[in-house]
Amino acid sequence: MDSLNPWGSSQVKDYERMRREFGIDPMPRVLEGNLMSERSLIMGQRDFNRVEIAMENGEKFAAMTGLMPSGQMHLGSKAVIDQMIYFQSRGAQIHIAVADLESLATREISLEKGREIALENFLLNYIAMGLKPCNFYFQSSNTYVQKLAFVVSREVTLSEMKGIYGFVDSKRMLELNSPLVQVADILSPQIYDEPMPTIVPVGADQDPHIRLTRDISGRMNMIKVTRKDGKFQFSIGGQGDVKEYVKIIKKIVKTHGLRILKENLAYRTIDTTEEGVNLDAIELHLARDERVLNNYSTIPPSSIILRLETGLHGGKMSKSVPESTVSLNDNPVDVSKKIKKALTGGRESVEEQKKLGGNPYICPVFELYLYHLSRTDKHIREVEETCKSGARLCGNCKSEAAELMSTYLVELKEKRESSRHLIPEYLGNENGMH
Ligand code: TRP
Ligand code: SF4
Repeated sequence: MDSLNPWGSSQVKDYERMRREFGIDPMPRVLEGNLMSERSLIMGQRDFNRVEIAMENGEKFAAMTGLMPSGQMHLGSKAVIDQMIYFQSRGAQIHIAVADLESLATREISLEKGREIALENFLLNYIAMGLKPCNFYFQSSNTYVQKLAFVVSREVTLSEMKGIYGFVDSKRMLELNSPLVQVADILSPQIYDEPMPTIVPVGADQDPHIRLTRDISGRMNMIKVTRKDGKFQFSIGGQGDVKEYVKIIKKIVKTHGLRILKENLAYRTIDTTEEGVNLDAIELHLARDERVLNNYSTIPPSSIILRLETGLHGGKMSKSVPESTVSLNDNPVDVSKKIKKALTGGRESVEEQKKLGGNPYICPVFELYLYHLSRTDKHIREVEETCKSGARLCGNCKSEAAELMSTYLVELKEKRESSRHLIPEYLGNENGMH
């Protein structure tokens, strides 16, 4: 798959640096049937093994995302929903939060308008893309998530928020509150059901939210387990009586066939053997058993981190630069025009292009094929090879991309219209899970 990698080496280095700096692991293997994974467009993951095991064993797991109901749904958000649809097909419970409180506060979009945008510009496209009924809720009417946001705020200090997001003192409190509501969104499937693996597909720019959520998740558990020097060490947080927690630990030790090596209740720790036992399985089991004593026990959510698609004129594809962005509700004629004006990795002149070939790895048009338009490996390889050899000229290449994109958008629009009556099936839970 290496030759398919759409980035020049300098950008690959950036993603590598990002992985190193933030402790993101590469994908362990390709997920079959997942186009972005097959094309190396997932730059990394956190704790993906938990999700993989759940998928393989048919165990319960969740997939979570959210949307800001402002403006149009563009190709970047489509990539996330493609992932949600993939995980739904692999058995995930699907949870989608409408961040209408955030768009009310940051964009001054009324809740009524936010609702209309969420349904018309987002949910309807999700259904047209193939998302099946799921838990789709609005932050503004989900009192469970609001309450949880308040509870999780106990676990994080101002200096941490500054460290993670680089906030300066003049930031509004909104900037501190919104990520906490988002943490509550991400933990809510586990808190209102039971601890379970939760996959959150995010664009690379959203990774700080995942780090914050994972830290908070760890802090809300009373019992922690670590593997060190060939042992498991269980430790009990807080200052209260340890008796009930010790019972939970001992039950798990027994179930997993471990042996206690040292019990030091003054230090609130128990050391055990660890041979042959998977730490993730122990953590999940602990978080579930701890629930009798602690309503907020969870395991840290997992994530896959998607490479960001380049805008048609460079930079990141974002709502705020419409001429660089393709939105799913755009008129196909306008989209064709935008694509024809896009930057390319082509040469100055046709002669040079024929002689030297183009560079697909710096070309936003090639990315359109790679992320969305090429349905088969054969096709994407052909675009790549003919571009590099000089057989493909940018004008024709853009026309083909514009044509494929128009067809896609026209079909999607038809599906939207014929899906409208299905909306109520997705709104059964709009106030939350209870
Ligand atoms: N903040 C996200 C955005 O700007 C939306 C969001 C809200 C979200 N809750 C979430 C994303 C939970 C992932 C998980 O698009
Ligand atoms: Fe990009 Fe296509 Fe031109 Fe190659 S031929 S540089 S892929 S527009």
